[in-house]
Amino acid sequence: MNLLQKLQRRVTVLQEYSNFYRDLHHMELKGKVGSRMKFKGKEHIIWCLNDYLGFMNHPDSIKAAAKVTAKYGPSYPHSVRLSIGNSALHEELEDDLKSMINMEDAMLVNLGYQAFSSIVDALTDRHDTIIYDQNSHACLIDGVRLHNGRKFAFKHNSVSHLEKQLQRASKTHDPNHGIMMVIVDGLYSMSGEFAPLREIAKLKEQYNFTLFVDDSHAFGVFGDNGRGTAEHLGVEKAVDVYVSTFTKAFGNLGGFVAAKEEIITYLRYAVRSQIFSRTLPLPMVAATLKTMEIFNREPQRRKILLQKTKQFQDGLRRLGLYIGNTQSPITPVHINGPIKTGVKILRELRNQGIFSYLVAYPVVAKDTCLIRMVSTYNHTEQDIEETLKGFKAVKEKYPVAMASLSRVRV
Ligand SMILES: Cc1ncc(COP(=O)(O)O)c(C=O)c1O
Repeated sequence: MNLLQKLQRRVTVLQEYSNFYRDLHHMELKGKVGSRMKFKGKEHIIWCLNDYLGFMNHPDSIKAAAKVTAKYGPSYPHSVRLSIGNSALHEELEDDLKSMINMEDAMLVNLGYQAFSSIVDALTDRHDTIIYDQNSHACLIDGVRLHNGRKFAFKHNSVSHLEKQLQRASKTHDPNHGIMMVIVDGLYSMSGEFAPLREIAKLKEQYNFTLFVDDSHAFGVFGDNGRGTAEHLGVEKAVDVYVSTFTKAFGNLGGFVAAKEEIITYLRYAVRSQIFSRTLPLPMVAATLKTMEIFNREPQRRKILLQKTKQFQDGLRRLGLYIGNTQSPITPVHINGPIKTGVKILRELRNQGIFSYLVAYPVVAKDTCLIRMVSTYNHTEQDIEETLKGFKAVKEKYPVAMASLSRVRV
């Protein structure tokens, strides 16, 4: 068998979809990044940017990136951080992060995905046991796949199943030689629900484990100071390793890990994806530093985002749509039906100038799908009203598929 023959047998589910729905993938939105952009020449209200705080196109961050680009080029420093890939601005941003997150130390990473997998790998070895939420982000799952010690998944957000798995794990775990690590997302990107961090923190009193939280969707958005899920739920002390990307609320590239100083010092020399891959480019660092400044100066952005989210979600619920138990700007509008029905509904919305994308199996259960709508600081009253009007019309056309009684497993 050669490679092509092998791949013919391995057509992925996504590939199967992509052969049919050519206008639903690899799309390009044109125009200034914001709540209205053009798709195929027509203006749409955009509901699929994770630009929670409206920072993706802030003129001051653009200026900051342009300034260092003009001086050093677009991808400076030209090496890995550990060798000559450092700069005073990288260190300044780390200082800002550690005061914001209120942890002893923080380390920048070049891309969330590769870094977070690699951090899980760096922190564990074959003597350790990982217990992880089955819906954790793919980068964490990949980190778990790299792990050659024992690993247990627990049912999504089920504290009782987590406890069962901790009991199972404890039977074979040798605390003299290794650790137990629990891995969760702080806020789940499809359902918009928080992890039950309070209850998980309680379990820490009984079971000795390290808690690793990927808070990419809550960082900057939740908590009185934007420190994310644990601050919002009042259990910051329980988190041992905190990671987040800058690609959501901070509208940029890269990310960071924060923890006790000794942990970060170790990670600086041990995360393979960071010591064998280029540093975060200076324009990204300069832009994020500027974003941090605006973030600190304009805390009202978070409040306004949450007000707009409430207005939008209340409107959808009033229309009788089922949006699950979201607790955040991530709004999954559930469709009770196969992907073909979902595509029809999505196209109807597009006809009305409302733009998002469809999430289907294997991310959600078979014969269901959801349209993931993300509110941002930039959405206007008019955007929200027009969108609700569009959903009303589509619901009237597809009353069964969009019935609020749909109980769809995410
Ligand atoms: C929960 C979570 N973790 C990690 C990542 C990866 O971040 P990045 O885009 O910086 O690679 C994402 C991005 O989609 C995410 O949603």
